[in-house]
Amino acid sequence: MTNYILIGFMGSGKSSVGRYMHAKHGYQLIDTDSYIEKLEGRSIQEIFATEGEEYFRDLETHTLELLVHNNTNNTVIAVGGGLPMRKINRILLHELGTIVYLKARPETLERRLAGDDHRPLLKGGSLRERIRTLMEEREDTYEKVADLVIGTDNRKYAQIYKDIIRRQNEKNSSN
Ligand code: S3P
Repeated sequence: MTNYILIGFMGSGKSSVGRYMHAKHGYQLIDTDSYIEKLEGRSIQEIFATEGEEYFRDLETHTLELLVHNNTNNTVIAVGGGLPMRKINRILLHELGTIVYLKARPETLERRLAGDDHRPLLKGGSLRERIRTLMEEREDTYEKVADLVIGTDNRKYAQIYKDIIRRQNEKNSSN
């Protein structure tokens, strides 16, 4: 399947780059967070608060299964930051297409996430510490599952997109 899956930490720009690719380059767009909110008719915050994190993680897996089942094509899929942490999800992501890790420095993430009040996993304590701890848990998995790792610090969406396509072409021609 020819899809791009955008993975990375909260605030790394997955949804924004996805919207850019949809608006400027004709990809269909699926944002797993928005998809789940629509499916459930409530916000992610409410889902976490009422049902707990595991329930939300099951919905993420369910969403990926549907995308694979529906032969999703020509689509950019922006996924929640924690989604690649489940092994079954990583298998499904590989089935869906090229996995792109949008990488950003912790300082960049902190700047972008400051004042955010709708991400349950950032609640409580110092934002810097939350980012550091979660990043330690996740970074290795992001790097390992990704087909392409693309830096996003101080870069415009157009540059990020160009990088994705260039790196994908390089990869194809070296195979
Ligand atoms: C999460 C990231 C969020 C959302 C949920 C959990 C995470 O998505 O799925 O709040 O575990 O990192 P974004 O990465 O789009 O913020």
